[in-house]
Amino acid sequence: MPHFTAKLLPLLHRSAHVTVLTGAGISAESGLPTFRGAGGLWRTYRAEDLATPEAFARNPQLVWGWYNYRREMVRSHRPNAGHYALAELHGLVGKLTLITQCVDGYHRQAGFEEVIELHGNILVSRCLQCGKEGETEVWRAGLPYCACGGMMRPGVVWFGESLPRAALQSAHHAAETCSIFFAIGTSAMVYPAAQLPHVAGMHGAYIVEINPEETALTALADELLQGPSGKVLPQLIHALTKVSS
Ligand code: OAD
Repeated sequence: MPHFTAKLLPLLHRSAHVTVLTGAGISAESGLPTFRGAGGLWRTYRAEDLATPEAFARNPQLVWGWYNYRREMVRSHRPNAGHYALAELHGLVGKLTLITQCVDGYHRQAGFEEVIELHGNILVSRCLQCGKEGETEVWRAGLPYCACGGMMRPGVVWFGESLPRAALQSAHHAAETCSIFFAIGTSAMVYPAAQLPHVAGMHGAYIVEINPEETALTALADELLQGPSGKVLPQLIHALTKVSS
């Protein structure tokens, strides 16, 4: 069980606004691989072959093959105790803004309805021609096409692309206005998401990291709750409900 400092629980209990940023580690205990570290996807695959607009233009079949494989994984696994604990935390603090770099949609599936998805959603496709999003595509020769005739692409953000502007603005606002900022299951290596804990820190927020490993963020964090989020988060909720009662 991680050690919660005497400061954290009362602070969380009376906090008017808590902001949480999650990364691939939150879904690790669901069985989805992370990107970096042992077993990470970028250990086996090259991002420049699969997750850039250039890669898609060069070989859309290859890119779609990889995304279909990952979609299948997302569909065949489920949210874990960490996702459910965050949905529960929502009801225990004044306001909770949840920002995720995950594309699996598991936070929503676990009951957290309003999630800022910085990197899109892997189960959504978008037409390259008319921009329409949805799952209405028709597959021809291994590629999905929109009703307008345009080719569909995965609805995720690739390396070299901008993040959705409204999502990034809301995320910045949440980092600037919260009193506690949690960074959970992220290596904090990919910008601009990795900037958010720094923004929160500059605006005076208390920074808490949940991760089994130390990361690029650990030196900045006020507390590292070291362990898997599927265990640490339920323990945090349990401890918090004791303070509240
Ligand atoms: P990473 O794969 O870079 O980092 C995953 C983090 O999760 C690491 O720090 C692990 O130590 C930690 N971790 C592993 N198991 C965990 C567990 N059970 N509980 C908590 N933490 C655990 O993933 P991200 O930081 O999300 O971008 O990567 C950022 C972006 O890089 C991704 O969104 C993706 C990737 O390329 C796009 O797809 C655009």
